[in-house]
Amino acid sequence: MEKYIINGGNKLYGGVKIQTAKNSVLPILAAAVLTEEKVRILNVPHITDVKNMVKILNCLGCKSVYEGEDIIIDSSSADCSEIPRALAHELRSSVFLLGPLTARFGKAKIAYPGGCDIGLRPVDLHLNGLKRLGVRIKENNGYIECECEKLAGNEIMLDCPSVGATENIMLAAVRAEGETIIKNAAREPEIEDLQKFLNAAGCKVRGAGSGTIVVEGVKKIRGVTFQPMADRIEAGTFLIAAAMCGGEIAAVGASGENISSLLHKLRENGCKIYSKNDKIILKRKGALVSVKSIETQPYPGFPTDLQAQMTALCCICRGQSIVTENLFETRFKYVPELRKMGADITVIDRNAFVRGREKFNGATVVACDLRGGAALVLAALAAEGRSEVLDISHTDRGYGLFEYKLRSLGADIVRVAV
Ligand code: EPZ
Repeated sequence: MEKYIINGGNKLYGGVKIQTAKNSVLPILAAAVLTEEKVRILNVPHITDVKNMVKILNCLGCKSVYEGEDIIIDSSSADCSEIPRALAHELRSSVFLLGPLTARFGKAKIAYPGGCDIGLRPVDLHLNGLKRLGVRIKENNGYIECECEKLAGNEIMLDCPSVGATENIMLAAVRAEGETIIKNAAREPEIEDLQKFLNAAGCKVRGAGSGTIVVEGVKKIRGVTFQPMADRIEAGTFLIAAAMCGGEIAAVGASGENISSLLHKLRENGCKIYSKNDKIILKRKGALVSVKSIETQPYPGFPTDLQAQMTALCCICRGQSIVTENLFETRFKYVPELRKMGADITVIDRNAFVRGREKFNGATVVACDLRGGAALVLAALAAEGRSEVLDISHTDRGYGLFEYKLRSLGADIVRVAV
């Protein structure tokens, strides 16, 4: 186990290179099993979720090698379509392999996925979508078993715009006979990135980002070299950190376009923000002003993956805010830890009622999930005095080189073994 020791109060200055997007790399790694040719993904982030996804691919018989910052996946020797509980439980994106494994081998057997403990996280939309493509599905003893000799294109209407279900269905439909139309599909930029990857590999996918995705099945999928998009959630996390600590930073390599809902709120908080080429620059000098309400929504609404970080910011704004989490049932587990730092927050159902305070006080707090852990780090950076953030294996899942990047901006943060 490791922890961060943070001495808060430093303003943040400088540029920070934004990593390749975790939530784009993970479905692309799943897509790699669709082809027997090599797939090279450029500049993969140094995060545990990627390492665990690669472990899963290797357990399926794929060969993966890191070459500098890139990873090369060779699935020609893949000969297994079963993912054991121990591995599947490490992360949510293990379930994204149901589609591609069934497309490749005609079958798949995967234990229920893990991932952040932020809600029920059912997989019914994944399974209903695959069934519409002709997949026979059995669920028993904690495993999902898929079987289908020949996938057939169909029209699929998602009850809610699930990111993972959209991706899983896309990764099966590319090898189905005929056309598949996915309605009420998720519109996240990572879905567009997956479409870009698949089309570069010879697939025929269109409409990602629009809510209706049309996939024409193809017989052969080629190997490809691909640079996924920048991590908009990491960029947003650093921008919120600068807003909380004060100073001026540039998030390099990120596009303001795909976090415009966040930038809109940060401007309301009193930050000066502008995008220039591939940089988002944020400056915060005066006091932070609270925003009345923040409601998480599917893209292009306010991202649920920035909810915890934004709630931490609300705690040190002048005024009151209400943060509503509309996507996940229990995504406020970090709140008791923020209270240890002096936050005045009351959670009722899906709403957090925040009364702004002058500042956070340093304290020892425990991370309980990826984005909640990031929120605690940001609170500690802005706090007066010394803090410890325990169990940072949670933040390691999604933030590569986190303390190095923060230190390069002037933060006083070190990682120590407990
Ligand atoms: C993806 O998770 C992301 N993970 C999450 O990021 C992100 O929070 C989420 O999308 C929403 O944007 C990856 O891409 C690896 P969903 P996913 O299916 O696919 C319900 C992070 O911090 N639902 O879009 O699991 C579900 O309960 C992680 O980087 C069903 O009801 O999210 C939730 O209420 C956390 N049935 C809503 O849809 C299903 O079959 C959105 O979930 C699937 C989902």
